[in-house]
Amino acid sequence: GKGEYDHFMLKEISEQPTSIAQAIEGRIDPRSGTIDLERFERGTFEDIDEVQFVACGTSYHAALYGSTALNQVGISSTALLANEYSVAAPPIDDSTLVVAVTQSGETADTLNALRSAAAAGAKTMTVTNVIGSTASRVADETLLIRAGPEIGVAATKTFSSQALMLVLLARRVAADQTGEVRTDRRSLLEAADSMPESIETLLEQSQAASVASRYRDSQAYFFIGRGLGYSVALEGALKFKEITYEHAEGFASGELKHGPLALVTPETPLFAVFTGTEDEKTLKNAAEAQTRGAPVIAVCPPGHEAIEIADDHLAIPETDATLAGLLANVQLQLVSYYAATLLDRPIDKPRNLAKSVTVE
Ligand code: M6R
Repeated sequence: GKGEYDHFMLKEISEQPTSIAQAIEGRIDPRSGTIDLERFERGTFEDIDEVQFVACGTSYHAALYGSTALNQVGISSTALLANEYSVAAPPIDDSTLVVAVTQSGETADTLNALRSAAAAGAKTMTVTNVIGSTASRVADETLLIRAGPEIGVAATKTFSSQALMLVLLARRVAADQTGEVRTDRRSLLEAADSMPESIETLLEQSQAASVASRYRDSQAYFFIGRGLGYSVALEGALKFKEITYEHAEGFASGELKHGPLALVTPETPLFAVFTGTEDEKTLKNAAEAQTRGAPVIAVCPPGHEAIEIADDHLAIPETDATLAGLLANVQLQLVSYYAATLLDRPIDKPRNLAKSVTVE
């Protein structure tokens, strides 16, 4: 049941310290720098030249997080919408790993893409929350995210576990490929190890409820970010529209000036996600929106330069740059939740949506 919580969504947001702890349990050792994900049947990823992700919705945003993390460590990777895959699949060969990211393991679009990749000769894997799901039966390998059951239609704790697992997978693939462990691995693993504590702190101190209330009568809500923060901006907007029924959109920070800026007014608050990747540029982009009257809410660590210009601040504890997006996402989950509460939305079962989408 929901226990002390009004909604499963809030319960599941609040469970993230535990779900993340479960996800990494026994899989990382910050002291030795070891990442031990699973006994993958294939043993090693040294023969993999490219990783393609296929996924839908929130899982697609986690996939984008993963593909960005792979590109950052020098492995060529793309994230593709599973429902576009059949019409626009990039070329595949036996050095391509196709990873289906799917919480349920039952999403029809994602299963189709996975099956067609397997038929075209790719190596396949699924990153899923459900042991024995169809995706896990179809794929050569399964990486479980161990988030525990998620009841709310809005995916929350499964996103953070997916994104974290994909970051670890990225490091593992890179290490198998180059035979070298990156020198920054220890700091990443230390940050992963203290992620449950960081989320706990964030949940205790979050100003999300008052931010949601301050901007409750706005016309539209925009979210921007760069690099890993871009996928978080997209996810922030999806969550917001899904449960509040308000217009929300996510953009790459640098894209704002290429069109979306025309939508910006004093009635369109802009959430700017700062994850340590070219933050000064994102800050400039946010300032351009602010000049047009949009209130800017900076999602960033305390002491960040964005706080000086921002109208509001949602604090994320200091962490490794590769994982900062996970913390920013928790703040955005809370903002959506509180905004939807103020509007009296059903939250756990938004209209027109289903938890598992088993039709094409
Ligand atoms: O089970 P899956 O991860 O494959 O589901 C994919 C999407 O339908 C899902 O992530 C959806 O976007 C979320 N429930 C939205 O919060």
